[in-house]
Amino acid sequence: MKAAVCERYGPPEVVQIRDVPKPVPADGEVLVKAFATTVNSGDTRVRALRVPRGLGLAMRLKLGLTKPKQPILGFEMAGQVEAVGSAVSRFQPGDRVVASRGFDFGCHAEDVTVAEQGDIATIPEHLSYQDAVALCFGGTTALIFFRLGQLTSGESVLINGASGAVGTMAVQLAKHLGAEVTAVCSGGHASLVSGLGADHVVDYQAEDFTHNGQRYDVIMDAHGNAPYARVKGSLQPGGRFLMVVGDLWQMLAASRQKATISASRNDSSMTADNYRTLMSLAEQGVLKPVIDSVLPFRQIVEAHRRVDGGHKVGSLVLTLVED
Ligand SMILES: NC(=O)c1ccc[n+]([C@@H]2O[C@H](COP(=O)([O-])OP(=O)(O)OC[C@H]3O[C@@H](n4cnc5c(N)ncnc54)[C@H](OP(=O)(O)O)[C@@H]3O)[C@@H](O)[C@H]2O)c1
Repeated sequence: MKAAVCERYGPPEVVQIRDVPKPVPADGEVLVKAFATTVNSGDTRVRALRVPRGLGLAMRLKLGLTKPKQPILGFEMAGQVEAVGSAVSRFQPGDRVVASRGFDFGCHAEDVTVAEQGDIATIPEHLSYQDAVALCFGGTTALIFFRLGQLTSGESVLINGASGAVGTMAVQLAKHLGAEVTAVCSGGHASLVSGLGADHVVDYQAEDFTHNGQRYDVIMDAHGNAPYARVKGSLQPGGRFLMVVGDLWQMLAASRQKATISASRNDSSMTADNYRTLMSLAEQGVLKPVIDSVLPFRQIVEAHRRVDGGHKVGSLVLTLVED
């Protein structure tokens, strides 16, 4: 099978499409033929080993000291079950699923094995593979942070980085939860986030939201330039700060700050349950996938470049088989 292989840390060009052995499902595993996958900010961070300050050594220990331990990147994919192991009972060949292997990656490939009990969920009939996979990375992140931050109806929330993969899902989920949403993004993306339901939009190129006198019950930083020290004056008493991106020092400080909530993808953000929630919300029309662009799998290097640019909207989808 073809897979995108990344054998050293570096620029987008280190990713190369190669022929590699097709995986064989173990007893409790499902083999999925990939129709669509994404290149997201997590993939490009791993490829470039671009990690928040102070976390370099920890990330090298986790991801690979001098090169990626798992050379096939990719957090998530959508496709069709091709075969199942002898102990699998919940899935059968032909099922349409979204799946992830978490930090074992491996989804930038034509075929992927996933544990039946792992992060795998059925795609509703009327949702395409591309739409389904586009919901996953940002959607799971927004879901887990709002759950941890206990965002409730009637509260005000500001989302910094509102037009990206995490931000576009966060805007929609916050509206769904009944919050009043302020989205921070560039002026060029204001109409996009308004269309997703944002009640107010702050163009970060024209205004600093920390200086406009507004206060919020919840602030989510999904870009990385709005740490607690900068935004604490914009929080209501009892407000919560959702630190989606933070360096080591901010993480250490967070353990002493009651207001700050941090999470990593280890906090089971990519569980089958979250996938089922996202698929169901999309089926009901509550959640709309936001897709920056769709590229064929062979253009994966270009996809990494686009994500590296830091200004994509929503998710960048790669297709392996036409929907
Ligand atoms: N902790 C976790 O579990 C977790 C999970 C997922 C992601 N993350 C992290 O969250 C971050 C966002 O991920 P993503 O996938 O959503 O990234 P993304 O899709 O690349 O989006 C980044 C967004 O940041 C916005 N932005 C750029 N400059 C900005 C500025 N000066 N002020 C405010 N917003 C600005 C961009 O909006 P414009 O184009 O409008 O400028 C863009 O839409 C990444 O650092 C990622 O590593 C963490």
